[in-house]
Amino acid sequence: MLLTGPAAHEINRRRTFAIISHPDAGKTTLTEKLLYHGGVIHETGEVKGKSGTKAVTSDWMELERQKGISITSSVMTFDYDKLRINLLDTPGHKDFSEDTYRVLMAVDSACMLIDVAKGVEERTKKLYDVCRYRSIPIFTFVNKLDREGKAPLELIDEVETTLRMQCYPVTWPIGIGDRFKGIYNRITKEVMLYDQRREGDEVETFPFEPQSAWREKIRPEVYEQLMEELDLIENALPPFEPEEFLSGKISPVTFGSAKQNFGVDTFLHFFCKYAPGAQARTTKATEKVPARTMDPLDSNFSGFVFKIQANMDKRHRDRVAFIRICSGKFERGMKVKHSRHDKEIRLAYSNQFVASERATVDEAFAGDIVGVNDTGNFAIGDSVCSEGKVQFEDIPKFAPELFARITVTDAMKRKKMQEALQHLSEEGAIQLFVEPAIGMQDPIIGVVGELQFEVLIHRMQDEYNLPVRLNRLPYTVARWPRTADGKPQDSLKGGFTIYRDMIDQPVILMNQEWDLKWAEKENPDVTFATSIARAR
Ligand code: G4P
Repeated sequence: MLLTGPAAHEINRRRTFAIISHPDAGKTTLTEKLLYHGGVIHETGEVKGKSGTKAVTSDWMELERQKGISITSSVMTFDYDKLRINLLDTPGHKDFSEDTYRVLMAVDSACMLIDVAKGVEERTKKLYDVCRYRSIPIFTFVNKLDREGKAPLELIDEVETTLRMQCYPVTWPIGIGDRFKGIYNRITKEVMLYDQRREGDEVETFPFEPQSAWREKIRPEVYEQLMEELDLIENALPPFEPEEFLSGKISPVTFGSAKQNFGVDTFLHFFCKYAPGAQARTTKATEKVPARTMDPLDSNFSGFVFKIQANMDKRHRDRVAFIRICSGKFERGMKVKHSRHDKEIRLAYSNQFVASERATVDEAFAGDIVGVNDTGNFAIGDSVCSEGKVQFEDIPKFAPELFARITVTDAMKRKKMQEALQHLSEEGAIQLFVEPAIGMQDPIIGVVGELQFEVLIHRMQDEYNLPVRLNRLPYTVARWPRTADGKPQDSLKGGFTIYRDMIDQPVILMNQEWDLKWAEKENPDVTFATSIARAR
């Protein structure tokens, strides 16, 4: 049955997205400005919390980091233009981890933030690849226009070639760096002039006619250049087609300066107009039930766990499982079916993060994220629902980039360590690889980010009372070799050691990308997957 009335209204106004970027591109700054426009914070500078300003988000995260425990993403919720927007944080600096990738499984769209001087950077590309994997629509925000950077045409070309995705400039910058004068909105045909001395949301707006008053406010050479560039793009580009954006084929691009709060409002308007709401999700076929798509408006409450955060609150040893709601309405204390365990559980405690406040949530809707207290019931990818049995498609495992051998300081406790590692690997906190000849005697740990190692050492000590040591290995690349029809490929030419992951899939570990090129050259019929479905 499909929901109608107020619940349907709530679901329809949900927009859930994440910002993907390389560290220092300005994600925190942009987040802060979005929260400002959303009325969550009332003065900019609250989020960063650097240099003595009031801290809203980062300090909370830093606090968690100093405790050596898992921080990872929070959800920030704000209202804008009658919509309820959930912005999921994708931890990027030292707290970059596999969770950062998994967050992207829980969103309906993403905003790719690019520093105009740096272009497409390495981490942006990795996160972009994860978005591509799901074909989710991607907005692009080119940041730091108030600083010198690449010419906009060059930048667009770089995005298109590096990411093999077409761009559609929604706005176009008027000058850059010292000569940055504003943006032209190609859709509304308006010019917004930038004035460094004024708050960005009080900009002067003019109609675009070439003879309009805005022309006198910019230098002739800047005007000439703008007209030249516009001439090129207007002639080269077809009109904006929302369907192409929604299917992930083209990315609408806006330009601005997050720091100066310029262009952010324009982005947000465009976002509100085109960002997709909660999307229908596919369930997995089982022996008894065929696969189906779950309509967000389905009255059957359903969701899946995309992140588990251990010991967020030291006073409680419990963990928080973050559930993306896929359909229906969540009510605090409701009884749901845990699909993997095939048992009923109560979602007794939940919270949502509105900036620094961890507010208890009584109800939430498809598109929202709720954090529920977990006493060990949940693993990444678990599904819950209020009626019947629903199991959403698996959240894949993503190729780790850091590797270490783990040893327990007390050799008598080796067996206990193996059990603990197995448990942490099932939970999705780490990935484990074994050499078939050696087995679990001497496993290799693989993680995406450094923090995962820190958390591992902390949890081994804290939860399992096992002091462990990590000996780092030189690998940086892991790939799962597959045959042309997607089956595991168990033998390779080129002298590669074939390891096994915890679901007994063959995997190779390599020191550098160059080795991967060699593997591809030696084994032209084999594909080397960067992600793989996890066991259920
Ligand atoms: P991140 O979360 O993506 O890592 O980036 P963050 O927002 O922390 O920004 C990284 C640096 O870039 C910060 O400078 C920030 O002020 C600056 N920045 C962000 N957006 C813009 C922009 O539009 N224009 C300019 N010129 N700079 C921008 P910082 O020196 O590290 O910090 P702060 O002293 O400025 O706070």
